[in-house]
Amino acid sequence: MDYNYLMEKAIEVSHKAYAPYSKFPVGACLLTKNDNIYTGCNFENASYGMTICAERNAVGTAIVNGEQVFKAIAIYSPNQDNCTPCGACRQVLHEFSENDDEFDVIVKIGDQLKIYKLSELLPEGFSL
Ligand code: THU
Repeated sequence: MDYNYLMEKAIEVSHKAYAPYSKFPVGACLLTKNDNIYTGCNFENASYGMTICAERNAVGTAIVNGEQVFKAIAIYSPNQDNCTPCGACRQVLHEFSENDDEFDVIVKIGDQLKIYKLSELLPEGFSL
């Protein structure tokens, strides 16, 4: 899968974000083990803590479509280069990753893509 394509999809869906409070739209595009893709954007709430991040929205969409193993995610915000997932989303991605050393987290810095491994961003993620 071309990571530029994943990033294009993350950019596209960032335009659908509902972020009237933070004014910080985010888009995410997940790549599943089966090479399917699912997108998500953040959606906020007047009760701020109810906010759902773009990454977790994409995970939910993948789950309702019967996919539970993911191998990469592209994340984009027009407001910030290097828009890496928040701590909570890192743990959620860990839940659905077979191997964090091989799970790519793709962000944009200027015109370039930067690829982290999930294990770099979340060492020793919690598992039961
Ligand atoms: N946000 C995401 O969607 N993903 C992240 O990884 C970081 C934060 C959203 C949540 C909130 O709507 C806005 O960005 C500002 O925190």
